[in-house]
Amino acid sequence: LVLKVIEFKNSELKIIDQSALPDREVFISLREWQDVAESIEKMKVRGAPAIGIAAAYGYCLGFLENKNCGKKKMLEGMLKVKKGLLSSRPTAVNLQWALERMEERLLHSATEYEREDIYAALVDEANSIKKEQLNSDKKISRNGSRYLRRVGKNLNVLTHCNAGAMATGGWGTALGVIKNAYKEGIIRKVYAGETRPRMQGAKITCYELNKKSVEHELICDTAPGYLMYRGMIDAVITGADRIALNGDVANKIGTYQLAALADRNSIPFFIAAPVSSFDFEIDTGEEINVEYRCECEVLKINGMLTAPEGTRAVNPAFDITPADLIHGYVTEKGVIKKPDELQ
Ligand code: MRU
Repeated sequence: LVLKVIEFKNSELKIIDQSALPDREVFISLREWQDVAESIEKMKVRGAPAIGIAAAYGYCLGFLENKNCGKKKMLEGMLKVKKGLLSSRPTAVNLQWALERMEERLLHSATEYEREDIYAALVDEANSIKKEQLNSDKKISRNGSRYLRRVGKNLNVLTHCNAGAMATGGWGTALGVIKNAYKEGIIRKVYAGETRPRMQGAKITCYELNKKSVEHELICDTAPGYLMYRGMIDAVITGADRIALNGDVANKIGTYQLAALADRNSIPFFIAAPVSSFDFEIDTGEEINVEYRCECEVLKINGMLTAPEGTRAVNPAFDITPADLIHGYVTEKGVIKKPDELQ
């Protein structure tokens, strides 16, 4: 069963508000591209592939705002739309990838068609991005299960943040592998790290695992070292926001420490991500623009102070895991050891 998290119909983008989960399952309706950009920035929709899909539909809405201008003005307007959506979050390459794809379709269509046809072409492109992601998710799941089977049976696996249906608009990458491998009896139990400060692991991953009746336990972000030391974790699998040519991975803050701890405890650590998460333009993780978010996310929980008034906090949303800590990348094209195998 695929969760319906992003739907586009009659020039309206409906997304599940991930910031309200698990308390409330509410859908919000977006009709302007600016609302889409704001929803990405505020993480109502989040996860690398999902923000790419949402931005692609946002681009369609942006076209509606500009479609009645002359061609030059329309193209200028669309450049503004692209920049606005792009600046909503900087780290995940999928956002940039999806918008470049949309722009290409616009430039191609703008020379040939009437305005209504251009709009239909853009919606078609955004629908394809969404559909292709679902297909990739399913292949990643199958490839990942096969890979995990080699690690052993009755595995206890750890995942971080949320790389499930919510994060991809379909089925999920890392969590897709986990759900599939659980169904096939390869995984016994899942540990989900809370993922401070936004708690995507606790709020969203546990929500999804619960819906799928996958046995799981929530752990604090500070617990993995001890669990690994006690032999309670057999493999670690996470998603990715951007993968450099040398294999360095940007993913949710805390991923690097999990990979380092897994290495120390001889536990395989792998990444599940679609080919669209690979950035072949950059050589190493050092070139990745890591988003820093408001310190308020660290200093308050549900409006209550977590530290004395006046305490300052630093809040990087992602970190970089060096390639040498990663055992393999599960993609829709198979499990690879180095990104250049995809080129
Ligand atoms: O800040 P978020 O919640 O958008 O970060 C999400 C992650 O880091 C995910 O692990 C990543 O996007 C992969 S989603 C398939």
